[in-house]
Amino acid sequence: MRAAVTLGGVLSALLGLLLSHEASASVTVRKTGRPPTGYEVEFRYINATARRVLIGGGLQPFTDQFHTTGTPHRTNGRFDPHDYQPGDFWVSNPWPQLPEDYVWPYEMRRSPDREDEWVYTAPFPSGTYTYAFLPDCDYAPNCTVDTGKLVVDPDVPPFMNVPGDQLSSNFHVPFDEKFQFSPELNTNFDYALPAPNPCRNRGRVLHVNYTSPGSLHPAKDIHDFVLYLPPGYGRSKTKKEYPLLYLSHGANGNGADWENLGRMSHIMDNLIRQGHIPPTVVVAPTFYNLDATHQDGLKFLYGNRSHPVPVPAARLVRENYEKYLFPFVESTYDVCRNASCRAFAGLSMGGVLTYEMLVNATDRFDYFGLFSPATLPPYLSEKDVARNPALRNKGIMVAYGLYDFVFQWARDLQNALDGLGIRHATRVTPFGSHSWSTFQDNFYWYTRMVLWKPLPLDLRARR
Ligand SMILES: *[C@@H]1O[C@H](CO)[C@@H](O)[C@H](O)[C@H]1NC(C)=O
Ligand SMILES: *[C@@H]1O[C@H](CO)[C@@H](O)[C@H](O)[C@H]1NC(C)=O
Ligand SMILES: *[C@@H]1O[C@H](CO)[C@@H](O)[C@H](O)[C@H]1NC(C)=O
Ligand SMILES: *[C@@H]1O[C@H](CO)[C@@H](O)[C@H](O)[C@H]1NC(C)=O
Ligand SMILES: *[C@@H]1O[C@H](CO)[C@@H](O)[C@H](O)[C@H]1NC(C)=O
Ligand SMILES: *[C@@H]1O[C@H](CO)[C@@H](O)[C@H](O)[C@H]1NC(C)=O
Repeated sequence: MRAAVTLGGVLSALLGLLLSHEASASVTVRKTGRPPTGYEVEFRYINATARRVLIGGGLQPFTDQFHTTGTPHRTNGRFDPHDYQPGDFWVSNPWPQLPEDYVWPYEMRRSPDREDEWVYTAPFPSGTYTYAFLPDCDYAPNCTVDTGKLVVDPDVPPFMNVPGDQLSSNFHVPFDEKFQFSPELNTNFDYALPAPNPCRNRGRVLHVNYTSPGSLHPAKDIHDFVLYLPPGYGRSKTKKEYPLLYLSHGANGNGADWENLGRMSHIMDNLIRQGHIPPTVVVAPTFYNLDATHQDGLKFLYGNRSHPVPVPAARLVRENYEKYLFPFVESTYDVCRNASCRAFAGLSMGGVLTYEMLVNATDRFDYFGLFSPATLPPYLSEKDVARNPALRNKGIMVAYGLYDFVFQWARDLQNALDGLGIRHATRVTPFGSHSWSTFQDNFYWYTRMVLWKPLPLDLRARR
């Protein structure tokens, strides 16, 4: 049986329990009260035929800020979690191909209890971790779904999958001040833990279909999104109008990623519970498969490598959402009807889409969050801003990681906005690469510092 602490979102947990009569894998997070982190994680996986099993699927060795640069090769510590020290974190960078540089700490051992079972136990610090089992894999960075050497934990399935998704299960480890506090770097991710007191403090996460002519998935002319309804939604006698945040995934992802990999509902629950934002509805749409004519964008080769998925042009996605998604959402839910309580945010290629919304749907939204945006020039010109002066009065944040491969692009965008007098808030995640720990951090700080704050943003205001 899986332990309750392995929860990956409410729905996946329920699904996991339904499947658990045949549990063939598990991940258990335990408080130990011992160094090095105060927590340990135990992985179990049953596979009678495998000769060797590694764990990967997003799990990375650790590093620290003194051994990390933004350059992928040979520039991070790659520490074993057993050697954890406060301030350690992980970055997701391509690995060097040199065999002598390859040290992969996550190797399972045969269980002493059963012949066909594999186990691995290690201390982990605070954070959300994605993982998968890699049977008969000798080089973790190369073992992917399409090589047949990556098995998603069948007992902690992702909330929703479509082909091309970032297939991963995940677990979350709490922070323990006693063992993990670092005077140099805050790596406390407890804001993504489930909120206490579920009935009062937790919202609902739903999967919703809507009519979108031309859509290819999940059915012809039907498209889908993941919906977060805050605690209390639908319970008040008088009709409320909730503020509305659209939250986009990036290349190779889908609308479920923010919940599966980013634990968006937990972050929202905590920010609402702590009074940082009013109860807010979140819609996480999917920019793939909107239309057969949208299949001509950039192709990305990671993920399902034999079938790279083209990212549709941001302009086409915007036009499609304006035609079908926005009217559906705004006529179906108790959400507000004006720009002052509408926001659009997204990560990576979703940050490019957010930029498109900022420039070409300026009047629909007052708040924009660009997380690790993969934006490239040309940027806006003085002329564009003169034609559209509202751009100077928006709640914008540009956020990205210090070790993010889009670092320079995001900096260039900031410089361009600064040059045009478009004020915006900033978050440079000090442990951040182009990965979910960065996107979570960007989302957390954007929501806490910018979302629904009075405009123009008071950049002198303190937390
Ligand atoms: C077990 O490992 C083999 C490789 O030896 C792999 O093909 C198979 O999918 C694994 N089975 C399960 C249930 O994970
Ligand atoms: C990993 O994959 C890359 C790209 O396909 C290949 O060049 C490299 O040789 C592989 N490395 C190992 C150790 O299998
Ligand atoms: C890769 O993507 C293709 C096209 O979407 C799909 O048919 C195939 O099943 C996927 N492969 C895996 C291993 O998920
Ligand atoms: C959405 O539509 C797909 C395809 O018709 C269907 O399989 C799925 O059950 C629907 N989901 C919901 C939540 O209605
Ligand atoms: C926008 O809608 C909200 C919620 O209905 C309302 O409180 C606010 O006054 C409206 N603002 C404007 C500028 O119309
Ligand atoms: C905004 O619209 C214009 C005119 O259609 C287009 O040229 C531009 O690419 C769009 N997006 C951005 C980010 O400027």
